[in-house]
Amino acid sequence: MSEGTQTQEYYGRIPRHIAIIMDGNGRWAKKRHMPRVAGHRAGVESVRAIIQRCGELNVEVLTLFAFSSENWRRPEKEVGLLMELFIMALQRESKKLREGKVRLKVIGDLSRFSDKLRKEIKKAEDLTKENTGLELVIAANYGGRWDITQAVQSVASQVKQGVIDADAVTEAHIEKYLSLAGLPEPDLFIRTGGEQRISNFLLWQLAYSELYFTDILWPDFNKDELNIALEWFAGRQRRFGRTGDQVEQIKSA
Ligand code: IPE
Ligand code: IPE
Ligand code: MG
Repeated sequence: MSEGTQTQEYYGRIPRHIAIIMDGNGRWAKKRHMPRVAGHRAGVESVRAIIQRCGELNVEVLTLFAFSSENWRRPEKEVGLLMELFIMALQRESKKLREGKVRLKVIGDLSRFSDKLRKEIKKAEDLTKENTGLELVIAANYGGRWDITQAVQSVASQVKQGVIDADAVTEAHIEKYLSLAGLPEPDLFIRTGGEQRISNFLLWQLAYSELYFTDILWPDFNKDELNIALEWFAGRQRRFGRTGDQVEQIKSA
């Protein structure tokens, strides 16, 4: 695009891609005088419900932030329990995902994970790879800056080898090497748990997403809460730099 952006314009009422920062598990548990991990466990239930609902609604992509590149800073015990929970969830849910036509993809720097976890990820991805329903993306040891950096590294090595000219490094070219290459950008971003920040999630891809923040803690986020977010989304006028009148013309054409 001569305007210098690759952002896809999408004006539909149901988002093609929903990206969620599932925050508030620890506070949910604390309120109940339970250990933080009980909140993470309860959070898995919300994940299940939201995947199912997104499938029913024909959402194309659901990206869930499960573990950030900064979450290693947490106490070792919590990190260990989160990894165990991740392994268990993959083992328990992958068959159900396959039956539900969900295709799983895990993004992030997986090199820091145990062999066991990496094996389970691969197994679950393989088991669901033929599916054509909802594309479920789990961001694990993911950071938006890491993503852009690894893409730029790939591009830089192509330039160095003379495969492409420096001039050919466009937004579209960089995009091809990002973790979500080929998928539509998130139309709707949701963060539960009350904080209004991105916490190094999809920095590149959120450029034109509608940002929805709710105080609801992730284990309390259910279909009804998702419906509220979707209604809010349907009421937004996305403009992608255009004027409101132009957008109305495009939508009625
Ligand atoms: C989000 O919940 C889950 C992960 C980051 C793994 P938190 O664990 O951050 O919950 P709060 O923010 O402490 O309540
Ligand atoms: C963001 O939540 C990461 C995930 C939900 C996986 P955090 O709880 O880690 O974010 P901060 O530290 O409050 O910004
Ligand atoms: Mg948090």
